[in-house]
Amino acid sequence: MKKDPFTTAIRQGLGCKSKFIPSMWFYDANGCKIFEEILDLPEYYIPQAEHEIITNSAEYIASELPDEYNIIELGAGNGNKAINLIQNLNIHSPGCEICYYPVDISSWSNQQLRNKFEISLPGIPVKKVNLSFLQGLKGFVDCKKPRLVMFLGSSIGNMTITESIKFLKEVRATLSKGDLFFITFDLVKSPEIILPAYNDSQGVTARFNLNLLTRINKRFQGNFILDNFRHTPVYNSELARAESYLKSTKAQKVYLKKLKLTIKFRAGELIHTEISQKYDTNSICHVCTSAGFGLVDSFFDNKIYCNGRLLRA
Ligand code: TRP
Repeated sequence: MKKDPFTTAIRQGLGCKSKFIPSMWFYDANGCKIFEEILDLPEYYIPQAEHEIITNSAEYIASELPDEYNIIELGAGNGNKAINLIQNLNIHSPGCEICYYPVDISSWSNQQLRNKFEISLPGIPVKKVNLSFLQGLKGFVDCKKPRLVMFLGSSIGNMTITESIKFLKEVRATLSKGDLFFITFDLVKSPEIILPAYNDSQGVTARFNLNLLTRINKRFQGNFILDNFRHTPVYNSELARAESYLKSTKAQKVYLKKLKLTIKFRAGELIHTEISQKYDTNSICHVCTSAGFGLVDSFFDNKIYCNGRLLRA
């Protein structure tokens, strides 16, 4: 079989001592569908908080933008956040010429988004970019139009602080001086609020995490038995982050036929599948300034669960 990034990730992540699968692999069509369900969960507070942040900040963002610009969204998902923002930008400065570029590795999400835009914002051109974030951004380097780049959904939390700084530096390097960058961070708060967001009572998040094994089974003719693994979220208060694992409930062997790979698990052994870093204002400032961005303004939701930052390259 030809080497592809998923094969590399699985060989590396399941062939080593501390097993891990990078969280980008959650989002096959089925993973995206389950993630849509997560977005509607009462425990998952981020979408509501971001909705408020976008509504609270749109007037200010509109005042910082010229009459003609491109909006590029990294990890656009179903497009709800962008629709909310663009509708609000249109209220505060009508008549601007906007072109929207959703960057998302999932073609399923991109189709959903296109359908939603056709209904809610039929006048806005949508040009999807089916690439990784940085590859997608590199396509705009020579573009003359000013840019507003958005990175919402607390996606920055899926990186460690060190990785975030490196990533944001790379993002900034693709921008022109004066371009705007809008990013949201999930704030440190009580674990009693954070943990249920990653361990909902209906078991949707568990299905989302376990879907990774289904994806691996399908792709590599694997024989993971889903009942032998358990969704295991933890709040690591020392590092201020939620961590998601799949725990092997017993000693077992799994075979991935297409990779000719046998994976051994001890009882209780974990596969690390995601981190979700939570931030305080000091760590937010540290990350943004280390990446070389200047702060334009900062916005909060009503409960102060998340922080949106408008930055300038
Ligand atoms: N980026 C999202 C977050 O960290 C993704 C997510 C939500 C997630 N719930 C999850 C990832 C549960 C793994 C498990 O909030």
